[in-house]
Amino acid sequence: MSQHRTVAVIVGSLRKDSVTRKVARALEKLTPDLKFTEIEIGNLQPFNQDLEATPTLEWVKFREQVKATDALLFATPEYNRSVPGVLKNAIDVGSRPYGSSVWDGKPGAVISVSPGGVGGFGANHHLRQSLVFLNVPALPVEAYIGNAFSLFDAEGELINDATADFLKSYGEAFSLWIEKILADEKVAA
Ligand code: FNR
Repeated sequence: MSQHRTVAVIVGSLRKDSVTRKVARALEKLTPDLKFTEIEIGNLQPFNQDLEATPTLEWVKFREQVKATDALLFATPEYNRSVPGVLKNAIDVGSRPYGSSVWDGKPGAVISVSPGGVGGFGANHHLRQSLVFLNVPALPVEAYIGNAFSLFDAEGELINDATADFLKSYGEAFSLWIEKILADEKVAA
């Protein structure tokens, strides 16, 4: 079982009242086995390969923060059937310099969130495509949280029992997934 593994939470929305962040926080509350920490991505300069030899302080800090954690939770809205640019930028910043990607081998999970009924399916799978390339083994449980504005009260508390049940089981599956992937990597090392 989990030994309070640490999870870097990457939220693909910069919006103050982001419903995606509310979902990530609800998952955190329902998964006491794991220690979640959101890592800021809104301060990352747009990736520019010219800066690889002289990375900005924000890039360096971001990379260190991700590196220090055991696992990754990506919670994303959908923008134009894909991931928001800020999230893609964070993924690109973490992936370089070539050969030093901070994502490499970390167990991950992907949740997409939308006020619409489709639940951000397009963003979810565009993100999964990048994670395959980055060698992030992503939990093979699908999580598309649709109609998301109706799931929370004015204080941001989850008020939908079915979603709470789903997130609880998702968090349990993620904990087990993290242990499995880290154990497999230990054997392979
Ligand atoms: C959206 N939105 C949206 N929703 C969706 O389900 N599919 C989509 O393709 C898009 N496209 C899109 C593009 C842009 C530029 C914006 C600003 C919005 C709506 C989006 O789901 C909604 O704004 C959410 O509230 C965003 O999530 P947060 O910020 O509340 O976490």
